[in-house]
Amino acid sequence: MNALILDGSPANDATGGRVAAILAPLLAAKGYKTEHVVLRDKTLGHCRGCFQCWLKTPGVCILDDDNRELSRKFIQSDLTIFLTPVMYGAYSPELKRMLDHLIANISPFFTTIDGETHHRMRYERYPDVMVTGWSDRPDQTQEALFNHLAWRNTINFNGEKRSWGIVDRHAGDVALKSQVEDLVRKLDSSSAHQGEELPRIAAETAAAPQKAVLLVGSPRMAKSSSASLGGYLLDQLAARGVATETIQIYHAMHDEPKRQAMLDAIDRSDLTLLAFPLYIDSLPAPVLSLMRDIEARRAGKAMRGAFAAIANCGFIESSQNESALASCATFAKAAGFRWMGSITIGGGEGLVHGRQLAELGGPAIPYKKALDRVAEAFAAGKPVPEEARQQLAKPFIPGWIYRFVGSRNWKKQARQNGVFEKIDARPYQRVAG
Ligand SMILES: Cc1cc2nc3c(=O)[nH]c(=O)nc-3n(C[C@H](O)[C@H](O)[C@H](O)COP(=O)(O)O)c2cc1C
Repeated sequence: MNALILDGSPANDATGGRVAAILAPLLAAKGYKTEHVVLRDKTLGHCRGCFQCWLKTPGVCILDDDNRELSRKFIQSDLTIFLTPVMYGAYSPELKRMLDHLIANISPFFTTIDGETHHRMRYERYPDVMVTGWSDRPDQTQEALFNHLAWRNTINFNGEKRSWGIVDRHAGDVALKSQVEDLVRKLDSSSAHQGEELPRIAAETAAAPQKAVLLVGSPRMAKSSSASLGGYLLDQLAARGVATETIQIYHAMHDEPKRQAMLDAIDRSDLTLLAFPLYIDSLPAPVLSLMRDIEARRAGKAMRGAFAAIANCGFIESSQNESALASCATFAKAAGFRWMGSITIGGGEGLVHGRQLAELGGPAIPYKKALDRVAEAFAAGKPVPEEARQQLAKPFIPGWIYRFVGSRNWKKQARQNGVFEKIDARPYQRVAG
């Protein structure tokens, strides 16, 4: 049997190495041959959100870098272990950068699990998954959030056995070993499959903003659903006298002067709005990276500014965004912002089709009205009103219609790309023997 350790430790953190060294003999005793991959040493571009891995080269990411070999290793392993510091109840960008590529390994088509939309499996079998986090100090909110995210991820990764938990990075070798042993043991216990509660993080009031910045956290940038939804809200703030600015995170992240200008713009703003797509039940890797930079920059400074987030996801149920939005709240608190609450929208693409929300009628109308009410509240320094949040969270069409139309669209695009026959391809299928 093969075990793959995907180690998402940042450069200055030796914990992944310590945990991997404990795991190797434990797993060997259970009959596994273990490979430890330190992700920060690999060449991994960011997922471009293009879905070509479903519709053009089915099962293979169009980026020809180490993500392909790691995807193959993931599928061909019997057990994959994620190692990561806990960041805002989520994973490190070093780990997330690889996880975002794993959508190549699932099918674009839908199924339902416990009444909720998920993707069908591309392969017959997937590895068991163990998610191991560590933190500097005990933090109940982050722990609950991390466990919730790991639980959600393990549903989407389809592994039969799953376990997750947090170890104490400052523990001595004996204590750390016993914590890691517990997690390995949990793989064989069915209680680890049960759901986890998401912590509730209350929104606050702030001073009425004079300046607001919209950060768009999608690789599709101006053409994204995030830009459409966030842009509409920003325009409503501008209409109420707030000075506004929009920054594409993916445009600014590779260029140092642009990245500095983005951080300066956040410093200048009274309200920072983050609009992002849900990636693997969480935030896209570059957004997590930016959050870490913002927190470091604001460390030790007096609390200033407010922060709010807008998530949209592919599945019709907006509830799938809640874990990522709770991470945004945790980040806001850690970085000294006032948390103004969040907006969650399901089936983002189906709702906006990459167009400006302001141009759309029909099902988009109640969403625009609810965003108007959010803008009114923000302009007065008040958090997202609960009834507007609930309106935005409603599905715009019944789930079964959304899934039917969505599947038809995937097939149409695959046909146009000449790969209709290959859409269920299994390029990394393990060869018996
Ligand atoms: C790498 C990747 C991971 C995704 N993971 C999820 C997910 O876990 N749940 C979900 O509902 N949608 C998921 N989606 C779908 C996006 O959230 C959805 O397409 C969204 O509308 C894109 O918004 P954007 O146009 O702002 O990028 C994922 C998409 C990509 C590319």
